[in-house]
Amino acid sequence: MRNHFLPYCLPQIGEEEIAEVVDSLRSGWVTTGPKVKKFEQALAEYVGVAEAVAVNSCTAALHLSLAAAGIGPGDEVIVPTMTFCATANVVVHLGARPVLADCDGNGLIDTTRIERLVTAQTKAIIPVHYAGQSCDLEAIRSFARTHGLFVVEDCAHAIGARHNGRQIGNSGNPAAFSFYATKNMTTGEGGCVTTDDPEFAARVRRLALHGMSRDAWKRYSETGTWYYEVLEPGYKYNMTDIQASLGLHQLKRLDQFIDRRRSIALAYDEAFADLGEIELPRELPGRNHVYHLYPIRLNEKELGIDRGAFIEELTRRRIGASVHFIPLHRHPYYQTVCGYQPESFPGAERFYQGLLSLPLYPRMTSDDVSDVIQAVRQIVVEQRRKTAGFAFSAVPAAPHVLSNMEAAVR
Ligand SMILES: Cc1ncc(COP(=O)(O)O)c(C=O)c1O
Repeated sequence: MRNHFLPYCLPQIGEEEIAEVVDSLRSGWVTTGPKVKKFEQALAEYVGVAEAVAVNSCTAALHLSLAAAGIGPGDEVIVPTMTFCATANVVVHLGARPVLADCDGNGLIDTTRIERLVTAQTKAIIPVHYAGQSCDLEAIRSFARTHGLFVVEDCAHAIGARHNGRQIGNSGNPAAFSFYATKNMTTGEGGCVTTDDPEFAARVRRLALHGMSRDAWKRYSETGTWYYEVLEPGYKYNMTDIQASLGLHQLKRLDQFIDRRRSIALAYDEAFADLGEIELPRELPGRNHVYHLYPIRLNEKELGIDRGAFIEELTRRRIGASVHFIPLHRHPYYQTVCGYQPESFPGAERFYQGLLSLPLYPRMTSDDVSDVIQAVRQIVVEQRRKTAGFAFSAVPAAPHVLSNMEAAVR
């Protein structure tokens, strides 16, 4: 048994990040300044787009993108039900209506069932690259073209993922990224909008800082000017240099973080492959999954316990877990105000059944990974024993699997 609790997620902050933050604090640039500019350039280069606008969250990035596209009262925006509430809440903030779409067996928006959601009011769609794997972008592109819809991709989970060889965020649509504490790279809180359209970027930038003209952040620098104009009532969503200090170094290490995530996912894939009671996430052809999440699905009937009891068993073994996500149509707000009911989302209802995310992050040691594997296997085997009514002497550890895992997580 572990002697301390393994949290479901922890960020990996290095000495370079700490030194850079200290440098910002000493410099006096504690809000938006030169490091945000530098971080934006690095992000645009990494994603392979013309512009990145750094903001204080992915929620802000989504809100600004929709606002810059002119989404407003009376409009409808298609949003997957299998997502975090931020994806749909921003639609509501603009006075528009989120129209929830069902998901497929991978938790991704089911593009075969979105046509029926279109009305004369439909103006946009927000595909989510759930768990770190891209959704069917070709289907989304042709759907959006047919109906003249604005697309902003919710890439909160997916920085560094590739779709048919292209970086996510580089498919011609504006994209919103998250640098929240649990994400594949972090600035504490933070996010950005990427785009190839300089006019769109300029509008997002202006809306992110009160709707002020010019490079408002420069007005306290030697090259700045005191004069500005408010061109529209914008928001206060700018990123700070303290956040960008973290981001500059996290971005340099992102590919390394992703490699580590992928090797832990591979270790889980191999270690759980023989457990019929658990369905594992799959990497689809042409995708490069970055495993922000490792969502497994329990066959609760076969297992003999439900998700809640399974999570309690994990906690008893000092392993954290979480659930991504309670589908939006199950939340009181979306049920009462928008009138959504579970029956309308059979795909998401199936996917949500027994859904839980295991810990997976670069800071985990190979002992941590072994402990998660051991705990999951123990719970399953103990359940088998209970349901079969006789005792297994030990947890079958699938030795070939564990030796591969050792190699994989190095
Ligand atoms: C799919 C998705 N979209 C948007 C967000 C919002 O990100 P942020 O916390 O950076 O606003 C999250 C956060 O977890 C998310 O999971």
